[in-house]
Amino acid sequence: MNILEVKGVSKRFGGLQALGDVNLNVQKNTVHAIIGPNGAGKSTLLNCFVGKLIPDSGSVMFDGQSVLGKKPHQINQMGISRVFQTPEIFTDLTVMENMMIPCLAHRDGAFEMNAMVSLAGQKDIQEKAEEALADMGMADKRHMEASAMSRGDKRRLEIAMCLAQEPRLLLLDEPTAGMARADTNNTIDLLKQIKETHDITIAIIEHDMHVVFSLSERITVLAQGTPLVEDTPDNIKGHPKVREAYLGEAQV
Ligand SMILES: Nc1ncnc2c1ncn2[C@@H]1O[C@H](COP(=O)(O)OP(=O)(O)OP(=O)(O)O)[C@@H](O)[C@H]1O
Ligand SMILES: [Mg+2]
Repeated sequence: MNILEVKGVSKRFGGLQALGDVNLNVQKNTVHAIIGPNGAGKSTLLNCFVGKLIPDSGSVMFDGQSVLGKKPHQINQMGISRVFQTPEIFTDLTVMENMMIPCLAHRDGAFEMNAMVSLAGQKDIQEKAEEALADMGMADKRHMEASAMSRGDKRRLEIAMCLAQEPRLLLLDEPTAGMARADTNNTIDLLKQIKETHDITIAIIEHDMHVVFSLSERITVLAQGTPLVEDTPDNIKGHPKVREAYLGEAQV
């Protein structure tokens, strides 16, 4: 069963065709990787899933419901959460204060900083935030200033912020970019555990083939805004179309 169905999605930025007739299905409870060279249109595609961009044509259905024209907080409420390519945490807040932001946005569709104090006192929200932090191996860092965290912890905090919203579809845009190998492996293990213990589907954009092949069950290769091939990791390894897409940029 597909949780996400993308049909004929196209998007132009002026004279640039960023996406051209993209068709893509993500099966429920799988990890689906979207890979491709820089500028292939991966983040643009994710932006179309979360209400940040409206495609020029085509449809994006999540669990049978169109996401197009929905505001980002409505998309969250439908069950989709997304970690952006560029870190989105507030470094002058603590880990727990950052956790409160999406919880509040999820509930009210907007947030005010001064509402965080009362929200933090609400048991169910507090518990969800703590559970999500524990899921990402950060239970002991709840009072830490976000600015003092390692890059790996900042990225894992962002994933925890998404998990606190209990998404059915988690979208990750290069979640391990800039991490050292040990940190990357730690994140891979945590995501594997989340996949086993939660009713969740993960779509991940990633350049690190170690992450792609460790986590994913399906892989779509995007090049110049169009999917070239979609298959299992075993079939993608060494696929001539993948080599062609990367022109030697990655070893697959
Ligand atoms: N808001 C925008 N306005 C104009 N052009 C854009 C905009 N967003 C993306 N583009 C262009 O669309 C193309 C696809 O960009 P996108 O960010 O989706 O690529 P990507 O596959 O995520 O690349 P990367 O791996 O570098 O993150 C690029 O040529 C980019 O410059
Ligand atoms: Mg990108």
